[in-house]
Amino acid sequence: MIAAAGSGQRLGAGGPKAFVEVAGRRLIEWSLAALAEAASVGEVVLVVPAGFEASVDAVAVAGGATRAESVVAGLGAVSGDVVVIQDAARPLVTAKLIDRVVERLVDSGADGVIAAAPVSDTLKRAGEGGAVGGTVDRAGLWAAQTPQAFRVEALRAAQLAASEAGELATATDEAWLIERVGGTVLLEEVGAPNLKVTSEADLAVAAALLRG
Ligand code: CTP
Ligand code: MG
Repeated sequence: MIAAAGSGQRLGAGGPKAFVEVAGRRLIEWSLAALAEAASVGEVVLVVPAGFEASVDAVAVAGGATRAESVVAGLGAVSGDVVVIQDAARPLVTAKLIDRVVERLVDSGADGVIAAAPVSDTLKRAGEGGAVGGTVDRAGLWAAQTPQAFRVEALRAAQLAASEAGELATATDEAWLIERVGGTVLLEEVGAPNLKVTSEADLAVAAALLRG
């Protein structure tokens, strides 16, 4: 599944981010190409902004107000036992990374496997009046990315539990939904640039890397 239903406020391109061109393709098409090449992927579901369903050449459903709600909508169109969720905002994803995440899920007893990277910056907690309040030990801290693979049954149950608790909209990834009901999620180290396009500067960096 590709989550591509965001409006791209921070990019400010005047239209949905997933349809902005970068290095000769629309952003969403980079993820689509990687999924098409991935041996572990059978069918693709795109979650797009309402009204954009016809502008893509694949099964497409309209997204919701938040990313988590968009993924719920997309999961309704998924028929397999395993789903891998990819953000259209990460165009550097490769078929190899998608297969690694899916295969690790299948080979393990885990409910989820997520692409992630150890945090490399020194982390500060903000204190009063713009001062540093403290330094956070970064040992053991990882930044979560996509692709994220899940057992569909476990994800559906976790979405329902969060929805009933009124916490679905606050989820920034599906791994957290599984974590909050005590499920197991494994970290798969990415080891290559997999940046998320948020701002115009990110778009320029992504374009340079994609051209390379
Ligand atoms: N997304 C989605 N449905 C939403 C919001 C986000 O499918 N209601 C998707 C985006 O399309 C993107 C991914 O989730 O691929 C990560 O979201 P983000 O980078 O925040 O994208 P946008 O929400 O579009 O950007 P912004 O927050 O700047 O508006
Ligand atoms: Mg957003």
